[in-house]
Amino acid sequence: MKASIVLLPGDGIGPEITQQARRVLEKVGEVFGHEFTFSSHLIGGIAIDETGNPLPDETVAACRSADAILLGAVGGPKWDDPSAKTRPEAGLLKIRKELGLFANLRPIKLFAELVDASPLKREIIEGTDILFLRELTGGIYFGESGRSGSGADETATQAMVYSVGEVERIVRLAAKAAQGRDNRLTSVDKANVLEPSRLWRQVAARVMAEEFPDVQYDVVLVDAMAMHLINRPADFDVVVTGNMFGDILTDEASMLPGSLGMLPSASLGSDGPGLYEPIHGSAPDIAGKSIANPLATILAAAMLLRHSLSAETEAVAIETAVGKVLAAGLRTADIARGSEAIGTEAMGDAVVQRISK
Ligand code: IPM
Ligand code: MG
Repeated sequence: MKASIVLLPGDGIGPEITQQARRVLEKVGEVFGHEFTFSSHLIGGIAIDETGNPLPDETVAACRSADAILLGAVGGPKWDDPSAKTRPEAGLLKIRKELGLFANLRPIKLFAELVDASPLKREIIEGTDILFLRELTGGIYFGESGRSGSGADETATQAMVYSVGEVERIVRLAAKAAQGRDNRLTSVDKANVLEPSRLWRQVAARVMAEEFPDVQYDVVLVDAMAMHLINRPADFDVVVTGNMFGDILTDEASMLPGSLGMLPSASLGSDGPGLYEPIHGSAPDIAGKSIANPLATILAAAMLLRHSLSAETEAVAIETAVGKVLAAGLRTADIARGSEAIGTEAMGDAVVQRISK
C-alpha cells in the first residue's frame, strides 16, 4: 500500500508527540511493506505567527489531497488574548468544517495496566469501554454569533443550530458503531430546555426506530450524563451527542482511564481524508521538555490506519505494542504516579521496538 499522510504538528507539545507517532508509522510501513509519505504543514498559533492565518490555504489544499491527516495540538497562552483578531483554535474548527469532518470518534478505553492510575475506585472503573460520537461541524460551535449594544447593556449571542440531516447522519454512524460493539446506544441532549435538543431527540428516536430496531437505545440529559460518567461509567457502550456537550463530556470521560495522555480521536466525514489527533491539548506548560506522553498520538495513528487506510492488522499491531510497553512498566510522567518516568522519545522508541507482525 502507498499512502500520503499530512502531519499538522501545531503548537506546544504537538511537534514532539507527532514526531513519535510518525516514527511508529514508519516502522509499521517497514514491517508490513507499506510506503507512507509524510509532509508537514502549518496550523494553529505557529501558523498565525508565520502567515497571520491559523489555517493557511496551502494547508487546506495539502489536507484535501492527502489520504489521512495526523494532528498534534493547537493553542497556547501566547495567542490567548480575547481581543485578538484570530485564534489558533479557529484553525482547528475551520479544517473540521472545510473537510466536512462531522463525526468525532473518541474511544474511552481502560488499559488494564493503568487501572490504578484512574482517580476512581477500581470497582467503579473496571470494565469501562465507551465510544463517544461527538457531532463536530454543527451546533453552537458554528452558530451565528455577534455582539451589540454598549456598556452594561452590551450583549453577546451565539446560536445553537441543528438540522434534521445533521442529526440523522451522526446518529446513523453511532448506531452502526454500536452494532459492531455491544449493540447499545445512548443519545445525550438537553431536551428539557433547548429547542435544538428537542429536534435532536425526535430525529434520533425516529432513525433508531426505523433503521436500527435491533440496537438497544436510550436517552440521557447531559447534566445527568456528567454524573453517570463518574458513578457508573462501565454501563455505557456507544454515546452520541452534539458538539458542545461532546466537547465537555469527553474531557470528563478522558479522566476515567487516569490520563488524557492516553486517548486518541478520529474525525471523519462521509468521504475524503480523516483527521486523527490526541484528545488532549497543546500542554504549553510542558512543551519542549521532552516529557509529554506520545501514546495518545501514537494510538491516533492506529485509528488512522484502521479508519482511513483499512489496515486493521497494522492498527492492532500499534495497539498491541502500546499494551506491551505498559505491561513492561514503562511510564511517562503523567501516568507514572510518582514512580520512575521516561521521556517522550524513549516512549516512542519503546513502541517502535515492539511493532511486529
Ligand atoms: C477539542 C478541543 C477543541 C474543541 C478546541 C481546541 C477548539 O477542545 O477538540 O475537544 O473545543 O473542539
Ligand atoms: Mg475539547
